[in-house]
Amino acid sequence: MNTATMTQAITDLSQPAIQQNPWPTYATLRKTAPVSPLKSEFTRKTAVIVTRYDDVMMVYKDPRFSNDMSSNMPFPVRWLMKRIGSLDIMMLKDDPEHRRLRGLVDKAFTPKMVEAMGPRIERIAQDLLDAMAKKDNADLVEDFAKPLPITVISEMLGVPPEECYEFNQLTSSSFDTSTASGLRRITALPNMWKMIRLFKRLIKLRRENPDDRLVTALINIYDQGDQLSDREILGMIFLLLFAGHETSVNLIGSGMLALLEQPDQFAKLRDNPDLIEPAVEELLRFSSPVVYGASRFPTEDLMIGDTLVPKGTEVIGVLSSANRDEAVFENPEQIDITRNPNRHIAFGVGIHFCLGVWLARSEGKLAINALIKRFPNMQLAVPRDQLRWKVGGTNALRGLQSLPIRLG
Ligand code: HEM
Repeated sequence: MNTATMTQAITDLSQPAIQQNPWPTYATLRKTAPVSPLKSEFTRKTAVIVTRYDDVMMVYKDPRFSNDMSSNMPFPVRWLMKRIGSLDIMMLKDDPEHRRLRGLVDKAFTPKMVEAMGPRIERIAQDLLDAMAKKDNADLVEDFAKPLPITVISEMLGVPPEECYEFNQLTSSSFDTSTASGLRRITALPNMWKMIRLFKRLIKLRRENPDDRLVTALINIYDQGDQLSDREILGMIFLLLFAGHETSVNLIGSGMLALLEQPDQFAKLRDNPDLIEPAVEELLRFSSPVVYGASRFPTEDLMIGDTLVPKGTEVIGVLSSANRDEAVFENPEQIDITRNPNRHIAFGVGIHFCLGVWLARSEGKLAINALIKRFPNMQLAVPRDQLRWKVGGTNALRGLQSLPIRLG
């Protein structure tokens, strides 16, 4: 038995070299120090990083881990999050409060609602591809992966068409994690306030003029006399955008890079578009747009693997490392778009399992198939070592800054 905080070197995921290529570090940690000390990006204190599949599963599923991080946040972050209502989000709550909020929102954000968006997602994708086809220097992230999910979610929420442009600009800049650190976080504040005002206006508008979209559905949910307050709806909109915007951008961007780097897999999917379902699962596993979810805090001293982790320690369960654990996946460093079974945990596991899973899968499938169909001979336009991953923001999400391509 060992105590994680004492023995090994401290990993710092914000090191640029690890941000550009984290995989060798995770492989070494899985092998030699599966539960080891980490420099926390929130508190800058020592936390614990967990990298093996089985241990990560335990961290996300065991109810002895709490998601309530409010007492561990530095004061300015706590103050800011409280002001914008984002401390009320269900991702940072435990049961029974989490169960109540999740139960209510599950009634509004349904697979049926997502299915109904399918034709619209396809149309938005085609319009973006039309515009991209006219460009000399196409950037798959900027021109396609970024605008697609934000346009989809703003329509799903019921943002009026005349406000969509402002909404998309504000939300994509506020939720871009490369603006989420240090000075950039402060300069992003005025936009954040504007965005909150916009959300509040939207809730008011939909109270007065209901439609068949998500904000109206959130306002109208009743469950045995219970319903969401305006503050909770605000927190929910905030969470949907925070959890659902950049994640989907990263799936499309990093997923397409993975395919471009393994041309046999690209060709296989191009020639068999019906393989898109297992292909998206494999791209989720391989690229893991969410590196890790919310921090977990043990409510008692407990063992993770053979390491004792004291009560209250911040624990980071690395989903992207679990998804490449050689003990679970054969040839984890290769993509195989027909991999079966594929037990990846890119959407998390346990009570906080991704609420937007249907939307994320639908966007991934429609976007990637549309791209490959329109540009079947596309190629990377720069050498691989010139590609840059986002740095300077949260380490919890991983995605490309840009992906220049030759459309062919
Ligand atoms: C490829 C895209 C996506 C990935 C990889 C992803 C991944 C995840 C993961 C790993 C979690 C669990 C976090 C944790 O346990 O700490 C999560 C939770 C969540 N996701 Fe997603 N997500 C994606 C897209 C979306 C979309 C499109 C939405 C909604 C518009 C969404 C909404 C949420 C919400 C609300 C939660 C919190 C659920 C809860 O606390 O009960 N996600 N997601």
